[in-house]
Amino acid sequence: MKNQLNMSSSPLLPAILTLTLLSFTLSANAQVCSEGFSKLAQQKNISDCKRLRTLGAEFAWNLHSNGSNSNYTVVDILFGVILNAPQGWIAWGVNPGKRPEMIGTKAIIAVKNSDGRWVVDTYNITKETRNGCILLRSELKIVLCKSIEQEVEGMSTMSVRLSLPTEEYNVTKLNHVWQVGYDIEDGHPLRHPRTLRNVDSTEVINLTDRKGPSTGQYRSYLRSIHGVLNIIGWGTLLPFGIIIARYFRVFPFQCDPSWFYLHIGCQLTGFLVGTAGWAIGLSLGHSSRYYTFHHHRTFAILIFIFSTVQMLAFRLKPKVTDDYRKYWNMYHHFLGYGLLAIIVINIFKGIHILEGGDAWKWGYIGVLAFLGAIAFGLEVFTWIRFFRLKQRKKNHGAKKGPNQKETVEPPKDKDVFLIQG
Ligand SMILES: *[C@@H]1O[C@H](CO)[C@@H](O)[C@H](O)[C@H]1NC(C)=O
Ligand SMILES: *[C@@H]1O[C@H](CO)[C@@H](O)[C@H](O)[C@H]1NC(C)=O
Ligand SMILES: *[C@@H]1O[C@H](CO)[C@@H](O)[C@H](O)[C@H]1NC(C)=O
Ligand SMILES: *[C@@H]1O[C@H](CO)[C@@H](O)[C@H](O)[C@H]1NC(C)=O
Ligand SMILES: *[C@@H]1O[C@H](CO)[C@@H](O)[C@H](O)[C@H]1NC(C)=O
Ligand SMILES: *[C@@H]1O[C@H](CO)[C@@H](O)[C@H](O)[C@H]1NC(C)=O
Repeated sequence: MKNQLNMSSSPLLPAILTLTLLSFTLSANAQVCSEGFSKLAQQKNISDCKRLRTLGAEFAWNLHSNGSNSNYTVVDILFGVILNAPQGWIAWGVNPGKRPEMIGTKAIIAVKNSDGRWVVDTYNITKETRNGCILLRSELKIVLCKSIEQEVEGMSTMSVRLSLPTEEYNVTKLNHVWQVGYDIEDGHPLRHPRTLRNVDSTEVINLTDRKGPSTGQYRSYLRSIHGVLNIIGWGTLLPFGIIIARYFRVFPFQCDPSWFYLHIGCQLTGFLVGTAGWAIGLSLGHSSRYYTFHHHRTFAILIFIFSTVQMLAFRLKPKVTDDYRKYWNMYHHFLGYGLLAIIVINIFKGIHILEGGDAWKWGYIGVLAFLGAIAFGLEVFTWIRFFRLKQRKKNHGAKKGPNQKETVEPPKDKDVFLIQG
């Protein structure tokens, strides 16, 4: 029986898998611009270019120092993003505040009317905008000129020349945001979609470096960590612990008491790791509290509550000898399986929020297939063994009489089969 216990090392495999996945998503960062966009930038004498992280946006810039006046930095910008709709708007802006965020941004917005005509204007984005007030044009001193440019590679583009007061804007760490929306009313841009891509379209950029390295993406790193911890904790260790309880407690393998320590070990580690991921998820939800993913959040709270109840079982379960232990076991098992279903659904919901998290999706499908294969193998083995023992019991019973019964009775604990039935 001992060699069965080696399986406890196999949760490492999905862990390694998910970590590889994480480094993969983190390194898919700095990319050069598309050919058409670079060409357009060159025509405007702009040499530095980078792809932005979200919305298929690209960004080119050129710094001019204003020799006679070092109190201003002049920047030429070319910005492109995929709109792909008969009407809508594209926007780019800088934020003189502490963080790269929507509120406080000085934005240049190009609105595409339903007749295909573009109008570019400047806007002051305030708290009221976020609360649903219509966005009104306002003069921005920093914008020297602005215009819509030709469409390249499916991207709508606009160019802007800014004169940034060095006191307010530090070009080595400039907060900038970009956005795209599809709704307009009388030429006014209305609210953009609230998917993750639209929430994540901000960064801090160093314009003095030709590659334009960016920071301020801690949220997307945190999100990856949230995903990995939850996939390992809730999504891998808990189901693995359930498999151990189901197949190693009584039948087909009786590994008493090591099944119990493994089960508790898996569930406890899974619970702690998962709770860490859950807490990160809560703080992520808090830091972008105007964009809530309601179902994901509700499911996450249910998972935490029910798994806490399950963990309390460790302390509160009735003694083996108690009459109602059988019913308690049923309840513990059914809650466990229900929890498992919610966990799997919520992990896929989380991956769905990522939009294009295909690597995540297939990674987790791989983990599930791995666990499923183990469970399926053990299930088949259980039934084969069960019928063999039944057969043998019959034969023996015929030869040796009822006093042999004890040694061939397969499952001592009926509720294993209650579940299987
Ligand atoms: C780009 O630079 C060249 C040479 O300095 C100049 O002749 C040209 O007018 C510039 N083009 C633009 C769009 O500024
Ligand atoms: C350079 O600074 C001078 C003095 O403040 C200003 O008049 C001029 O517009 C600035 N040039 C640019 C390109 O911003
Ligand atoms: C730049 O700013 C400093 C302090 O704010 C001021 O003393 C100086 O006159 C300014 N320079 C120009 C050219 O405006
Ligand atoms: C933009 O909004 C800020 C408040 O968020 C305000 O202080 C500022 O005067 C506004 N600027 C313009 C040009 O309306
Ligand atoms: C901009 O930020 C860098 C790094 O924090 C700092 O060294 C530099 O002095 C700042 N420049 C201005 C003009 O504030
Ligand atoms: C910005 O980039 C320049 C050039 O690579 C570098 O010297 C500077 O330290 C960077 N500043 C920040 C704040 O990262």
